[in-house]
Amino acid sequence: MPYKKTKEEVASSLAEHDYLQAVGRFSMQHTMVSVYSSSTVLRPPDSVIRGRWFPNSDDFAGESALLNYRTDNTNIGFQAGVGRFFEPDAVLSSCHADLEEDLSQTIDLPKPKKLKTGLTATITSRRSSRAFNGDEVTMEELATLLHHAQGNSGELPYGDPTNPHGTVELRNAPSGGGLYPIKLFVTAFNVKGLQRGTYEYLPYAHKLSPTPTTGPDQELLWKSPDFDIEDTGFALTFVYNLYDNSRKYGDGGAVFGLIEVGAILQNLHLTRTSLALAGCDQGSYDKQLLERALRLDGHTHHVVHVTVIGQED
Ligand SMILES: Cc1cc2nc3c(=O)[nH]c(=O)nc-3n(C[C@H](O)[C@H](O)[C@H](O)COP(=O)(O)O)c2cc1C
Repeated sequence: MPYKKTKEEVASSLAEHDYLQAVGRFSMQHTMVSVYSSSTVLRPPDSVIRGRWFPNSDDFAGESALLNYRTDNTNIGFQAGVGRFFEPDAVLSSCHADLEEDLSQTIDLPKPKKLKTGLTATITSRRSSRAFNGDEVTMEELATLLHHAQGNSGELPYGDPTNPHGTVELRNAPSGGGLYPIKLFVTAFNVKGLQRGTYEYLPYAHKLSPTPTTGPDQELLWKSPDFDIEDTGFALTFVYNLYDNSRKYGDGGAVFGLIEVGAILQNLHLTRTSLALAGCDQGSYDKQLLERALRLDGHTHHVVHVTVIGQED
């Protein structure tokens, strides 16, 4: 739908699209809903938390949230949010996402390497490996992994197509609504030229930002029963921010966030296979301990996955 400038154009467009009128009316009568902001919100995150995560009845809260999040495709939430990616209000919800990165104390990453291995060979030779030899991963390898997993590689113009005034950056892994609710934290054990510690990956700037942790040492926080964490290059922790996408997708936000984790993770495994690095996902991490260490509240910001990468023994 082309961008509408005048009041008359908006009125005639609304006449052709009933559901937009309904959203407008809902906005005035019930809650803060704007067709031109990130809050294409029919169920704001707080009500999702109240309704699903602290239910009155003693049911399986996780099951309700993850499996029963979409009961009816004709409801207004679906039409205003999930079903409309390229319409102006939907595109604008992406550009209202938090794109700010704190660049004050960042560490530059080298340019990522181009991968030359064939896709079939890479996919079929990807195996989890827990045999790490303790040798260092280079900064170029780290940069290549992070870029292919989550780096930027394109852009989507928004606004008036005849006079574009801005773009939304697009990344290598797909994301529901282009809202990118997943953040990656690198905990370096053996990375050449990088001090041991935890860093957030900043995809727009392609840099690392030091993230001080609290509580036990890194080796206790990320340790695994399956190998010695000190022999790996680094651990990668995936953090989901519920507020980044549930304002648009309501209960479905968590599902979309977890799908994005899978996409980033597979990019990462294929890249490390191509670079001849070992790696293994970890289900054995202590969620609460890691959240406390990274200063995440565990309600709106969740640790949802950990994986480790290093030189193969
Ligand atoms: C979500 C997830 C959690 C996992 N957790 C662990 C783990 O804690 N320890 C481990 O040694 N392997 C873990 N793995 C690796 C699996 O054991 C491995 O993917 C599976 O055995 C298939 O082997 P392949 O990856 O070599 O094809 C995990 C994999 C996934 C996807």
